[in-house]
Amino acid sequence: MKIETAKFATSALEFDECPASSRPEFAFVGRSNVGKSSLINMLTGKKELAMTSSKPGKTRRINFFNIDESWRLVDLPGYGYAKVAKSDKVAFNVHVSAYLNEREQLKHTFVLVDSQLEPQEGDLAFAHWMQECQLPFSVIFTKTDKISGNKLSANAQLFVNELEAYEIKPVELFSCSSKTKFGRGEILNFIGTFLPKKAAKKKTKVQLGWMGKK
Ligand code: GTP
Ligand code: MG
Repeated sequence: MKIETAKFATSALEFDECPASSRPEFAFVGRSNVGKSSLINMLTGKKELAMTSSKPGKTRRINFFNIDESWRLVDLPGYGYAKVAKSDKVAFNVHVSAYLNEREQLKHTFVLVDSQLEPQEGDLAFAHWMQECQLPFSVIFTKTDKISGNKLSANAQLFVNELEAYEIKPVELFSCSSKTKFGRGEILNFIGTFLPKKAAKKKTKVQLGWMGKK
């Protein structure tokens, strides 16, 4: 699937501020600094669409991006950053959980996990919470350019094993690098499966006979 246009739509601090729209949405959630905003830029091919930072805690609001004027990518604030003020953590819990649970147009959630690390408690706890809420999700292992293929497989397997022990089964597993664009096609094609097929363009036959041409 190809993306033609990608534009920032709006942002919301609270669930009630989320825009009214029936456009299908796909959300990215995960620990602060895992690479959510970078992945949105990589998928859309626009380097500065979502704000990124080497310091965790950059994305503080729910950010909506219009894709091809017909669907949306949604960048969520990260969880698990110790320096975030307690009030912001409460806001994350209240508003992000409301978004994930109640947003009717949310078609799928991607939980991003840093492929460089062995399973982290925060990510496992979040996956448990998704399971408890009966929210389906896929996992994307990020920053694969920073590790070897063997290490990626090992860390991914450990994570999947941890989930399996609690009968948590992600819909799909992906890995990606926002630096090398690895994984871009697979993730976009998967998103495409949730979107209505574009109506085939009707070919209009041009009748020139009436103009006297042969
Ligand atoms: P918050 O908004 O704080 O929750 O973080 P985030 O998950 O949106 O992370 P962000 O995209 O801002 O990236 C954090 C840092 O990781 C930045 O310095 C990025 O350049 C870097 N980064 C993200 N993805 C990759 C990747 O695939 N490879 C490498 N090498 N670095 C990456
Ligand atoms: Mg971010």
